Amino acid sequence: MTGVVVTGAGHGIGRALATRLAAGGMRVVVNDLDADAAHQVAADIGGYAVPGDAAAEAGVAALVAAAREHLGSIDIWFGNAGLDRGLGLDAAEEDWAIAHEVNVMAHVRAARLLMPDWLAAGRGRYVVTASAAGLLTMLGSPAYSVTKHAAVAFAEWLSATYRHRGIVVQAICPQGVRTRMLEEAGPLTEILTRDSALSPEQVAEEVWRALQTEEFLVLPHPEVAGYYATRATDTDRWLTGMNHLQQQLDAKGATG
Ligand SMILES: NC(=O)c1ccc[n+]([C@@H]2O[C@H](COP(=O)([O-])OP(=O)(O)OC[C@H]3O[C@@H](n4cnc5c(N)ncnc54)[C@H](O)[C@@H]3O)[C@@H](O)[C@H]2O)c1
Repeated sequence: MTGVVVTGAGHGIGRALATRLAAGGMRVVVNDLDADAAHQVAADIGGYAVPGDAAAEAGVAALVAAAREHLGSIDIWFGNAGLDRGLGLDAAEEDWAIAHEVNVMAHVRAARLLMPDWLAAGRGRYVVTASAAGLLTMLGSPAYSVTKHAAVAFAEWLSATYRHRGIVVQAICPQGVRTRMLEEAGPLTEILTRDSALSPEQVAEEVWRALQTEEFLVLPHPEVAGYYATRATDTDRWLTGMNHLQQQLDAKGATG
């Protein structure tokens, strides 16, 4: 049976992923900073809770060790924990620092520990929950946009470096998903998600499909592919479009 770890699986997309993977017959290690939530999800899905910080170096090491102990070997790592902190240029140094820790360094630290075993075995899979903000941008949230770009860039680097050695890397890049994170985005939510927000379960179903096909970019909102193509081929047109959206936010007073 495939053994997997899902970080940040106590709530939202991570919880839906863990639930879908368990329903698909995988053995799931459920991690979250919120210990109660990790235990609850593990109990609900027949998984194994390993609460703790999936971003700090010591926390990642403890999680990898506990998961190996429980699963024997880790077949797939879902680096899903992430956060959105700070608004605009007022985002504090601390917001930038924690966004960098959780949205970027968590993946670097996990990959460092996972890759030697995976390379020796000639197989392994790293799935990062990045964001459409990692391909495009998230108005109002520069720390989130920059660190999610870095998450995608790190995943690309992993794939480019290890693809021929049996390593599969995938980056999930949704737009709005109805979780706490989206609720906490406040007045930005309405304009940025419009009617397109998906449920965490819809995202998990799309990830389940992509586990069979192995494509790098997993786009639960298919329209993101078009925006991404426009950004690459006509960057100024894309920026002008984003700026029009920003002007709508300004008019609604959504960004202060
Ligand atoms: N909700 C959206 O609209 C959306 C869109 C695109 C991408 N994402 C990404 O999806 C992922 C999941 O977010 P969500 O929307 O489910 O948010 P959420 O806040 O509901 O869940 C995130 C979970 O991660 C946990 N977490 C945070 N830091 C952690 C750490 N250091 N170690 C362990 N757990 C930690 C939190 O306790 C929480 O349970 C994030 O990476 C987020 O950036 C979300």
